[in-house]
Amino acid sequence: QSFFKPIQRTEPPSPTKRHTKISVVGTGNVGMAIAQTILTQGLADELALVDAKADKLQGEMLDLQHAAAFLPRTKIIASVEYDVTARSDLCIVTAGARQIPGESRLNLLQRNLALFSHIIPQLVHYSPHSILMIVSNPVDVLTYVAWKLSGFPSNRVIGSGTNLDSSRFRFLIADHLDVNAQDVQAYIVGEHGDSSVALWSSISVGGVPILSFLQMQQIAYEKETLEKIHRAVTESAYEVIRLKGYTSWAIGYSVASLARALLRDQRSIHPVSVLAKGFHGIEGGEVFLSLPAQLGRGGVLGVANVHLTDEEAQRLRHSAKTILEVQSQLGI
Ligand code: NAI
Ligand code: LAC
Repeated sequence: QSFFKPIQRTEPPSPTKRHTKISVVGTGNVGMAIAQTILTQGLADELALVDAKADKLQGEMLDLQHAAAFLPRTKIIASVEYDVTARSDLCIVTAGARQIPGESRLNLLQRNLALFSHIIPQLVHYSPHSILMIVSNPVDVLTYVAWKLSGFPSNRVIGSGTNLDSSRFRFLIADHLDVNAQDVQAYIVGEHGDSSVALWSSISVGGVPILSFLQMQQIAYEKETLEKIHRAVTESAYEVIRLKGYTSWAIGYSVASLARALLRDQRSIHPVSVLAKGFHGIEGGEVFLSLPAQLGRGGVLGVANVHLTDEEAQRLRHSAKTILEVQSQLGI
């Protein structure tokens, strides 16, 4: 006798909706912030967690399962073995070393590169049709590495990139102008790091280009103020890491917004790390860096043909060069 008395069906049961599965590799500060946000927003039917630390992993899984009464129903599984990730739609990689106070993201490359040669082939083996979302730093170079190791088409290998930097940028501009950050459209592009580029010329507030908004509101337009805001963005992570030891909440919301765009086929535009060779005069090698890209169920659907001033294009090419110089050490 089952718990529920089956109803009399007059027609076949409706086809079950597509089962959506997300895997998160690395259940540290960032991986757990991402996992928690995915659960809160009900973005998946199944969430698989992988980490090298078995006890911590099991503890995190149980702790999340115990929140079931407060969350949309999601199956949560975990293992140190990658078979638990089988048939994932999206695999998010946050495993690896993080910066100590004052350390640059690029400095993490050798330590995290070694992990990827183990992690990526296993994810590919169990989920050959998935989208890979790379978060571990240096995220642009590691997204390139994941692309090379996976053999996936570049539209299915994405780095979280400057989606986080752009959110910080929008927050600071909104704070400066006393408006809601969601009404500020602004992009940081290029490296998720010290050489990122603020696209001042394409910022709009409530659909009004920022420079005319400032004139309309009689807010003094000081170039120094705008540059100070961009500097604050590039220093954000260093400041938070100095204060609390790591960053997690903002990247958690950032990656969950990307997961929603991908898995709910939102076809929305986000600044994420994509294969950028050939865009805006970027040459000299295959490089991943952030550009405003349209995201949907197939991954990267296209790159927005955003207008860059000559100075912005020159800074973007410098950012590409910075990444390529680090990448050239890899020999892949
Ligand atoms: P964490 O130290 O809290 O977590 C890292 C986790 O990776 C640990 O649980 C560790 O056991 C696990 N791990 C290490 N080697 C592994 C392996 N071979 N297989 C599976 N799991 C493994 O570090 P946190 O704070 O979570 O940062 C993780 C990464 O995310 C760092 O590289 C950090 O720089 C990066 N990050 C990137 C951001 C972005 O915007 N792209 C923002 C914030 C952090
Ligand atoms: C950030 C670093 C950790 O929070 O990538 O931007």
